[in-house]
Amino acid sequence: MACRWRRADDVWKQVGPCQPVSSTVLQLGCGRSHSVKGKEWYQADEIAEAYDDKRFSGGGQFIDRREKAAVLNALGPVEEKSILEVACGTGRFTVMLAREGADVVGLDVSGPMLQQGKRKAAATGVDETVEFMRGDAARLPFPDDHFDAVFAMRFFHLADRPVTFLREIKRVSKGPVLFDTFNSQSARVVYNWLLPMGSRLYSRSDVDALLADAGLELVDEKHDFVLPYGFYRGLPESIASPFRQVDEGLGSTGLGDALASVSYWQTTDAEE
Ligand SMILES: C[S@@+](CC[C@H](N)C(=O)[O-])C[C@H]1O[C@@H](n2cnc3c(N)ncnc32)[C@H](O)[C@@H]1O
Repeated sequence: MACRWRRADDVWKQVGPCQPVSSTVLQLGCGRSHSVKGKEWYQADEIAEAYDDKRFSGGGQFIDRREKAAVLNALGPVEEKSILEVACGTGRFTVMLAREGADVVGLDVSGPMLQQGKRKAAATGVDETVEFMRGDAARLPFPDDHFDAVFAMRFFHLADRPVTFLREIKRVSKGPVLFDTFNSQSARVVYNWLLPMGSRLYSRSDVDALLADAGLELVDEKHDFVLPYGFYRGLPESIASPFRQVDEGLGSTGLGDALASVSYWQTTDAEE
């Protein structure tokens, strides 16, 4: 059966039968399918409940702050802008942007992750101005050029065919497209294989090819964390703090960009 859509509340909603059908593969109604690592992983309540604490408490706060700064820097002033966050998870950025006055939608395929986002929005008092939607990043339920900006953080390391997602993100943005990658020439490789689902790591040429395939042009790039995220996660903030200072110091030298474990890519439609 074909996918069907209807317009409601100023967004396009899917009313047809195209639903995710397997744990690791999203079956896309019209015969195509795209794997996403860890789709099942993020569907579990206990994973969603522990997600923020496990990654962004203690030394992880340095990561949370850095990522939020990367999003705000790339998007510029967001007040009254319409912004879509793809694979928003527990809504760390969605809620931050709502607090900054953006008209923001957070979309994710996991109900339990979205539930955390809704709780966070309510606790922060922005639940009236933020919308959380369950959906698939490979088939965004919005018309072309619907948002002023669209971004996805910590998502492309899960995607087996990232260009599919990036094209779709570009389609619904009339402005900036921001995403991050974990880098293949970095200390991240040391523990990547230990992670429950592993991560796709990108070289610079992978990113260049991805942007060219998606029809995107690079506007700005930032590289950070010579000591990869995993290093900070387990440490108390007081112990992580001096390491972060050394990390930032290294980052500001010529070696910093080459050794960085994460990159933030600010892009725009190459044809505009
Ligand atoms: C590592 S988490 C990142 C969450 C959030 N962006 C952050 O940085 O905290 C990855 C998220 O991608 C979501 N996800 C995976 N595949 C997806 C898909 N096809 N469409 C939408 N979300 C997806 C997962 O449910 C999960 O919430």
